[in-house]
Formats: sequence, C-alpha cells, structure tokens
Amino acid sequence: MLAEIKALAQTLTPRLIEIRRHLHAHPELSGQEYQTAAYVAGVLSSCGLRVRESVGKTGVLADLDGQNDKSGLLAIRTDMDALPITEKAPLDFASRHPGVMHACGHDIHTTLGLGTAMVLSQLPQPPAGKIRFLFQPAEEIAQGASWMIQDGVMGDVGAVLGVHVFPSIPAETVGIRYGALTAAADDLEIFIQGESGHGARPHEAVDAIWIAAQVITALQQAISRTQNPLRPLVLTIGQISGGRAPNVIADQARLAGTVRSLHPETHARLPQWIEGIVAHICGAYGAQYEINYRRGVPSVQNDPRLTKLLEEVSREAWGNERVEIIPEPSLGAEDFALYLQHAPGAMFRLGVGFQDRTNPPLHHPQFEADERAIYTGVVTLAAAAWRYWDSV
Ligand code: NI
Repeated sequence: MLAEIKALAQTLTPRLIEIRRHLHAHPELSGQEYQTAAYVAGVLSSCGLRVRESVGKTGVLADLDGQNDKSGLLAIRTDMDALPITEKAPLDFASRHPGVMHACGHDIHTTLGLGTAMVLSQLPQPPAGKIRFLFQPAEEIAQGASWMIQDGVMGDVGAVLGVHVFPSIPAETVGIRYGALTAAADDLEIFIQGESGHGARPHEAVDAIWIAAQVITALQQAISRTQNPLRPLVLTIGQISGGRAPNVIADQARLAGTVRSLHPETHARLPQWIEGIVAHICGAYGAQYEINYRRGVPSVQNDPRLTKLLEEVSREAWGNERVEIIPEPSLGAEDFALYLQHAPGAMFRLGVGFQDRTNPPLHHPQFEADERAIYTGVVTLAAAAWRYWDSV
C-alpha cells in the first residue's frame, strides 16, 4: 500500500502546496479561525468525508469510513491557528493579515491533515477502520484541545496521532521521540503585599520590591538545591511590576511566570514547593502573599507502541538515513497532551529545515518551511493510519 500512498501523495502535491500557500497568506489568531475552518471544511467535503463544523468553537471534525466495520476510531490531529507576529519572510504568499503570521507552521499541519484525508479517501483500498480528522483551533493559547474534547471528539477514539514541524530537522526527514516529547507548562502568579513608606525610612515600611527580588532569587536557587537535577525544572518569571515613585517604598509587587517540568512527581508537587518558599520569605520580612498557580497542559508522553508504528512506517518510507531518533525532550508545551488523557497517542516531528541556509526558529518573524516536507508528512501520516488498522 505504501507505493499507492506515495503515488497519490505525489500527484496531489501541487494542489497541497497551493492549499498551504493559501492558508499561509490568510492566517488567523487562536479562537478566530473562521475562514480557515470554512476552507478546511470545504476541502474535506469535496473528498466525501462526513464533516462537522464549529466543533470546539472554531474547529472542524471529519470522519472517513473504513473498509470493515472495526470498532473504534484512529484520530489524526492537526492545529490551525497562527500567532500575533508581523511576518518578515520574503514570500509571495506572505501573510496578508497585518500582525498575524503562521510562524509555528500550523498552516503546514492543516495541509497535512487535508492531504492525508485526500490520500486515504482516494486509495483503491481504504484503511480497514475509521479515521477521524481533528482540525483544532487555539493551540497557541493551549485552549483548543480542551474545547474539542469538551465537544466529545474523543468518544470511541482508540488512538491519536499528531505532528509538529521542526526547522532544525532538515526537510524530508522525520523525527521520532520515545517517551516524553514536551513538558508540562503551568502558569504562576505571585502577589506580594508589603507596606508603603518613605524611601529614606525603610525601617518603617515593608518593601514589596525587595521581597519580590528575594523570592525570585530563592526560587532559582532552590531549583538547584532542592530539586532532583535529573528531573528538569525551568521556572521563568517573565513579568514583574510594582511601585509608584522612585522615592516611595512599594507596598505591592506582582510576579508572573511559566513553570516547565517533565517528571510527573515534580509536576505534582510544584504548587506546594513554590508556596513553601514564598511563605518563608514573606513571613521572615513581614509581607503577605497570594499565589495563583494554574495548571496548564501536561507533558506529551508518546505511547511506545504507536511511536514504534511511526518509526517503522518512516523507516520503510524514507530509509534509515531520513529518520532521526530524537534524544531529548523539549521543555516547550503542546496541548496534544490533553488528548492523551483519553487515548494513547504519539506525535512526531517533521523536518522543514532548508539544507543550504540557517533556519530561524519557530515563532520567529522570518520562520520559513521547506515545502518538500508536505509530501513527507502526508505519506508518513497516511501510511501510519493505514498500518494502524492493519495491525489492530
Ligand atoms: Ni505549534
């Protein structure tokens, strides 16, 4: 079947590049993917899939029937949203929406979902079981997956596959990762309440800014002294505010940041661990505090069996030299993790790097993708889907 899949994908590639360029030129922000969703639904309907729109707010769901009536579904998830970035890539099909850009390659992901649906629906022999295509909105704000799940898309889904482009892997190469792919990402907000006073009379005040500085320093040092160094933890305070005038001691300070971890035990204990440190420092210097700790997305843990399936299909399709086993997880976050609370799944990385130049990273205004990756991604996803039903 691999030869048929490759031949179909080859024939469809010019059309897929056209689709990708259309999507790239018309990016939409998280939760506002109205035109994108309508466009996606139109393409899917023309392939004869059963399409549902407005799933998970601005998402699209499409089901493809299998050859047999095997129970369950294999889901293939792609995301559709863009970022609030002004594009600076010199492309004919650069963003026509000022201040919005597909800088994370979700235009490629959407194209891969569409291409895979086209290939699988046109094969002489369809896959043995049902395939569900999930076109998810709002991945960049880590909301879309939960919107889709709340709309019931995971009912009957037995496994889920996902893909993300990666500029540091060359195009036409597939990156496979066993185990943790991305980190758990939580949001942290700390309010410190001191007491205002004259800048010359610190002994009559409780300086919230100085205490905030102590809190930041203590948290960073505590990572190195109290956390297992073999279990990564990154705590970044990206915002700090407080104070009214240079000669007035600040009564309030606010810190906000992101907390990334990989190990479930580390992740579970983070709120108590942070509070212990903040309470101690504020207590020592007479300040009050309030902490808002918001759980974000968990870590993407790739299922071993599905990862093996992706690896085998990729080796067969592309040869060993174009399959990279990724040695380390990323501390980035991906809301694909939320689907994995309902079914096992695996996400692979699709190389989109140009061989002959340096590749700006994802979320960069000059991010570009080598479009040869579209063929690679479609064949990999379609072959994995076909093989999945052949193997269960
Ligand atoms: Ni992304």
